[in-house]
Amino acid sequence: MKHCTILLMLLVAFGASAQKFDLAKTPPMGWNSWNTFACNIDEKLIRETAEHMVSSGMRDAGYVYVNIDDCWHGERDSLGFIQPDPVRFPSGMKALADYVHSLGLKLGIYSDAGTKTCAGYPGSRGYEYQDALTYARWGIDYLKYDWCNTDSLNPAEAYKTMRDAIYAAGRPMVLSICEWGDNEPWRWGKEIGHLWRTTGDIHLCWDCELGFGTWSKWGVLNILDKQEGLRKYAGPGHWNDPDMLQVGNGLTAAQDRAHFSLWAMLAAPLMAGNDIRSMSDQTREILTNREVIAINQDELGIQCYRMLSEGQLQVFVKPLANNEVAILFLNRGDTALNLDFDWKKFTVNDGMTGRYHDFNQQTFKLRDLWEKAEAGTTAAPLKKMLPAHDVLMLRLTAM
Ligand code: GLA
Repeated sequence: MKHCTILLMLLVAFGASAQKFDLAKTPPMGWNSWNTFACNIDEKLIRETAEHMVSSGMRDAGYVYVNIDDCWHGERDSLGFIQPDPVRFPSGMKALADYVHSLGLKLGIYSDAGTKTCAGYPGSRGYEYQDALTYARWGIDYLKYDWCNTDSLNPAEAYKTMRDAIYAAGRPMVLSICEWGDNEPWRWGKEIGHLWRTTGDIHLCWDCELGFGTWSKWGVLNILDKQEGLRKYAGPGHWNDPDMLQVGNGLTAAQDRAHFSLWAMLAAPLMAGNDIRSMSDQTREILTNREVIAINQDELGIQCYRMLSEGQLQVFVKPLANNEVAILFLNRGDTALNLDFDWKKFTVNDGMTGRYHDFNQQTFKLRDLWEKAEAGTTAAPLKKMLPAHDVLMLRLTAM
């Protein structure tokens, strides 16, 4: 009997680890508290955010995870079980998860592989199995696992420990590896987590670096440029994570559109980071643009490559299912530019996937995903004024 139980446990563990619970087949979508609220969080905020994710149409557009970042923690009890802050979360996490689930959403939480989180709350080091069990009991669906205060820990091993703790707890959870790309997690993260941060934190700016001595925060373009060379590591169930969205937090409308389009093209997780309860119609329309989201959520899960970089213009290509293609024209510069793009001088030629389209041989019709309108074909050169910091995003379908 004993042997049977052990065998069964081994089979379950092996089955789970082989598939990582089969989660995040497309880039995970949701919301996270950090970019807007930092440590100013409580259960009221989380409940209201979940409610507005439903009433704003975000849930129906594909946003599922409501993720609580750092600072939810209280203390460990006498047996070592972590408790939520009793003032911020008086009803407890189980009740909060039940409520979020009742709205058709999922609940995420945050911890850290070190002794303390980045904001100084209790980390999971030495408590991994106990914490994973606690999260499972609460009904948590997603864990963002940070990398502060880890001393000389080996990152792959530390993240494996938490992965195995989640398997042992038995509840499917997305595991988000947040070690900022320091130890090239794209090389070892695939069998461990479902996504890994590729850079330091995103800062609310188009193009800037905000230094803090040993680390920096980065603007949208800076983070974009750091994705170079990483596309081969991403795919269904394991994504490069260029950090959470700043859409709706103060960039211009063009910059917000560009930021959202780029993250869609990068097959990045789409984690809104704004105050959903009070967002403008413009922000809501950007975040819920289903045609742009469909590019991000394409079942092939191929991250874009850069086809062209010429002055302030860059062009990105993302092969899609059914031989369709997404193409993004980005104006990085501070002045408008006049696009005059002769399709016949370019080919889609993606060595990584083998995708090849010659516009001299095949004509595609174009759909403008922000105008939500047909936009001609590849038979004629594309001529269009592209405002500063803006994008033109097209879906190409063979005729
Ligand atoms: C790190 C992470 C951020 C956020 C904070 C919380 O900086 O990279 O995304 O989780 O910690 O303290």
